Amino acid sequence: MGIYVTGDLHGGIDISKLSGRHFPLGRLLTKDDYLIIAGDFGLVWDNGAEELYWRDWLEDRPWTTLFVDGNHENHDMLAELPEEEWMGGRVGRLSPSVMHLKRGQIYTIEGSTIFTMGGATSVDREWRVPGRSWWAGEMPTEAELDAAEAALDEAGWKVDYVVTHCCATSMLERVYGSDQVWQGSDALTEWFEILEHKLDFRLWYFGHHHQDRSLPPDHCVLFRDIVPLGEMVDGELPGDDAERTAELAPGDADPTIELDAPGDEEDPMPV
Ligand SMILES: [Fe+2]
Repeated sequence: MGIYVTGDLHGGIDISKLSGRHFPLGRLLTKDDYLIIAGDFGLVWDNGAEELYWRDWLEDRPWTTLFVDGNHENHDMLAELPEEEWMGGRVGRLSPSVMHLKRGQIYTIEGSTIFTMGGATSVDREWRVPGRSWWAGEMPTEAELDAAEAALDEAGWKVDYVVTHCCATSMLERVYGSDQVWQGSDALTEWFEILEHKLDFRLWYFGHHHQDRSLPPDHCVLFRDIVPLGEMVDGELPGDDAERTAELAPGDADPTIELDAPGDEEDPMPV
């Protein structure tokens, strides 16, 4: 059994990373193996024909898919998924082997504890239509944050892994460079900042920023890369910063990003 983590799917737009060509290991997996998507799942949107096609395609993969919600989700529809207890936390079940890892949960999968908290601010909100292409539920409510803190209290503020869509305020600088922070902090990045200091974790994965980078010693931002839980990109391990990419000047392009389709060369944008 194995657990893998990757970044944003955006419905069918970035689902090709899960194809046999890009993820050959996937063919060898079983439903007892798990692939976690760090937000912007995007396949619970409008029940359109294309979306239903891709949901069936995903259900047909050999593994079980788990996703944290991002900002670009139909949060009203996500909230309507049948909810159940799974691995110690609450999930919304989309299909037999595709599940929404809900906010503020701690799951124990294969002996590892994983804290999840979806949501993020859409930077393109002004071009979106409330209820059709944007939902207020993209940001966690006070009650959701309180419930998350209660769960962490119960766990003694110690988990093995954290999977979120966005990240703490201090991580934005590491992702973009100090003078390239195009998006300021918000209530959620500030809440994550508290976790950065209070929570004992081994490795924190997040998506949203459309980059694949290890951020040693214990953070990893993912988009197209698919990494085994416990590893960062290129097999780097948390705490293993001997050859860390910190040698890169802030904002430098990451050489580990794989460009796998025409048009992929655009600047990373957290959408
Ligand atoms: Fe995204």
